[in-house]
Amino acid sequence: MEQPRDLSTDIDLSRPSAARVYDYFLGGAHNFEVDRQLAEQIAALTPNLADTMRAGRAFLRRAVRYLAAEGVDQYLDVGSGIPTVGNVHEVAQAANPASRVVYVDIDPVAVMHSRSILERDDRTEVLEGDLRDPEGILDGARKLGLLDFDRPIAVLLAGVVHFLPDADRPGEVIRTLREAVGPGSYLVISHSTYEDQPQEMLDAQKLSKRTATEITLRSHAEISSYFGDYTLVEPGLVHLPLWRPESPGDADEHPERFGAFGGVGRDNTP
Ligand SMILES: C[S@@+](CC[C@H](N)C(=O)[O-])C[C@H]1O[C@@H](n2cnc3c(N)ncnc32)[C@H](O)[C@@H]1O
Repeated sequence: MEQPRDLSTDIDLSRPSAARVYDYFLGGAHNFEVDRQLAEQIAALTPNLADTMRAGRAFLRRAVRYLAAEGVDQYLDVGSGIPTVGNVHEVAQAANPASRVVYVDIDPVAVMHSRSILERDDRTEVLEGDLRDPEGILDGARKLGLLDFDRPIAVLLAGVVHFLPDADRPGEVIRTLREAVGPGSYLVISHSTYEDQPQEMLDAQKLSKRTATEITLRSHAEISSYFGDYTLVEPGLVHLPLWRPESPGDADEHPERFGAFGGVGRDNTP
């Protein structure tokens, strides 16, 4: 991809961006040479990690298809990255063209690319926001006026909660989001874990401690607790390939090697 000319000057294009590296792993076109080099280094070091990213996006696609079939037409996607390959609004709007999506990411690079991709779609909006400030995200989303907070909303937290260390109280953050959305809402979480992990994933996590994007691996029980009193839909919180696989490509002989759990919970308030 050519470097866009209308970038705001505070984005450093000489350094890799986590969102563009992720985009490269997913087969997207919104990445530069510097991102691809880093992605190749990561892939050589930990092939499972690249597979895990792809499995994470595939899980998200299946979850959105499930939600759309359940009648959900509003999505708040926090930690959305660059919505380029198998993106939430495309999957949701394919099932129901009236579906509306608010994308939120902390990374100005992801926000900039998202805005340029979604410029012409009046059923999507993009917010720069930090999951650690859920009230800020909710205020921003309410001001946009795209989502109706009195009706069910699916809050999507795919591959993002593990960026919050325990000190940032992820349980409280997620409770704030759950409490802000209407009855019948849904919560989707995918989250890295140390349970059943091969050693190389644990080593990769140690490497992440040296970067600005350190992740915190958590147990099945901790991740389950983030759903609060929501009911997990079948098959519960499971290794990513085991969540409602739709094709042989979704499945894997060793689902635990992906090192992440995914699940969908529903608010059953009448
Ligand atoms: C691994 S990507 C996941 C992208 C997408 N949700 C998916 O599952 O395919 C994680 C994204 O979370 C964003 N992120 C990290 N910490 C965040 C925070 N505190 N608030 C909002 N977004 C955050 C990163 O910028 C990145 O784009």
